Amino acid sequence: MCGIVGYIGHRDAYPIIIKGLQRLEYRGYDSAGIVLFDGTENNLAKTKGKVEDLKHKAEISISTKGKLGLGHTRWATHGVPNDVNSHPHYSNSGDLVIIHNGIIENYESIKAALIKRGYEFHSDTDTEVLVNLIEEVKKQEGVKLGKAVQIALNQVVGAYAIAVFDRSKPDEIVVARLGSPLAIGIGEDEFFIASDASPFIEFTNNAVYLEDEEMAIVRLGKEIKLRKIKDDAIVYPNILELQLNLEEIEKGGYDHFMLKEIYEQPRAIKDTYRGRLLADQGIIRMAGIDQNLEKFLNANRIIIVACGTSWHAGLVAEYIFEDLARIPVEVEYASEFRYRNPVITENDILIAISQSGETADTLAAIKMAKERGAFVFGVCNVVGSSIARETDAGAYTHAGPEIGVASTKAFTTQITVLTLIALKLAKEKGTIEESKYHEYLVELEGIPAKVERTLKTNPLIEEIAEVYKDSSNCLYLGRGYNFPVALEGALKLKEISYIHAEGYPAAEMKHGPIALIDEEMPVVVIATRKGHYEKVVSNVQEIKSRSGKIIAVVTEGDQQVTDLADHVVEVPETSETLTPLLTTIPLQLLSYHIALMRGCNVDQPRNLAKSVTVE
Ligand code: F6R
Repeated sequence: MCGIVGYIGHRDAYPIIIKGLQRLEYRGYDSAGIVLFDGTENNLAKTKGKVEDLKHKAEISISTKGKLGLGHTRWATHGVPNDVNSHPHYSNSGDLVIIHNGIIENYESIKAALIKRGYEFHSDTDTEVLVNLIEEVKKQEGVKLGKAVQIALNQVVGAYAIAVFDRSKPDEIVVARLGSPLAIGIGEDEFFIASDASPFIEFTNNAVYLEDEEMAIVRLGKEIKLRKIKDDAIVYPNILELQLNLEEIEKGGYDHFMLKEIYEQPRAIKDTYRGRLLADQGIIRMAGIDQNLEKFLNANRIIIVACGTSWHAGLVAEYIFEDLARIPVEVEYASEFRYRNPVITENDILIAISQSGETADTLAAIKMAKERGAFVFGVCNVVGSSIARETDAGAYTHAGPEIGVASTKAFTTQITVLTLIALKLAKEKGTIEESKYHEYLVELEGIPAKVERTLKTNPLIEEIAEVYKDSSNCLYLGRGYNFPVALEGALKLKEISYIHAEGYPAAEMKHGPIALIDEEMPVVVIATRKGHYEKVVSNVQEIKSRSGKIIAVVTEGDQQVTDLADHVVEVPETSETLTPLLTTIPLQLLSYHIALMRGCNVDQPRNLAKSVTVE
């Protein structure tokens, strides 16, 4: 959950590392640090706070010269966020310096052993323990840095992406990964190290992604060398040509990444179905499904595992798969699933949904399901991510980089992929009428234009936000396909505006939450025309008669709910199955505006990080 950046080459490392850290800030932003080797000495600056704070501190307190350096932006696990606990960390001799993303679980016992040998520790971090373990191994075994890193890593339990160098040998950086991502950008006699490719995309398109349990020595003037950490086996680097472009990772005129990403949804959904949805031919083409069709058709059930927003997309998928393809579906929080003893058979298919493709619990659930014989299919956004690599097959969402911590376009594109899969399976199984199937394909193809139309409600939503920005609580209600959307709306509001919000299936309101309703309570109700409309109207009446304030998301031209609600936001008519792709949009915008009006940091909400690579 931290971001790491390193550089070695012929350019000044400082601007590359600072800019790279800013791009990786979505991964953690409670403290940051940088070390630069100026040709003779290391210069180190660390601070609690954001990369911008680090920049100020570094520019007044250290020499920012040097062609070799490491930087880190942190999401604290061991030790509170403060200057001392920030990375990089030195070894006791001051020769070695390290940055680390992950957790060393057995650090306490290693620390105790090192203390007995005279080592001193200045921070509360597991990382400082690791760098001193490497130093101790190097000394005891009389080996070079790469070997010392390898021996040390074979003694630790946990997860890591690390980069370490020795100031007495400043022509190389040693990197390693287990459970946390690490990419190496390869330029002309220069190397870039980073948690993802965004810090180096303007310098090189060539990158190697380390696999778990691999390490590499990047040395100036030499080819990159990869090895297995466990047995020293040589690995031939798979150098990929990256497709990412700079525009995709910058704000492009928007004030926040979140807003940019909300507005990108028409394009993102189109990119998700491009080449897959051939409506005029009545075909859905998805390699991951086509190549494993028999498995899907013979599946006893589908188990969906995910976390957070991706879990909400899984809930929508449950409705779609069961409704259209008549396949039983269970949706599980990955963090619960992996720690119980679930019944998994060889005829089960596990679908793992993850924007980042790095979520530790989802990854662990996949590994467990595979061990128990299930076929595992991934729905990921980040190409080449750990989950994408760990699954047996999969489909990318092609949403483009999502940098705002609150997930937006990932959600709608996940639903798009899952809808395509459900429709394809329904067609193959014959559980959908031919005419209905064709209607769906055409309707899905038209969704981006309807999302575009829904985005035009933005000024109205801003006005509604102004009215409710000071609320302490908010209830979200929806039924059927829009129940998960209610959950997602509530999650968006709480994570970026810090207003307490709950999502409920509308009918469940009577079993408890109705007690909360008074004139202070805004209730967001999703009341589209085809979704148990009359029942939702009754729910709206129940709220009204208890003086709750109703913000309703309705179908264009709605009458009944419009007459009852305090505010209405209209979305275009579509098939009920596809409504989440539209009803989600106003809820994203509502939370965005409320958060902004409350002075919250929309893209980097407190205590959160984009990619949850720790348990
Ligand atoms: C909420 C949000 C998180 C993520 C969750 C899973 O806006 O972003 O709830 O959805 O951490 O992340 P991924 O999809 O990367 O596995």
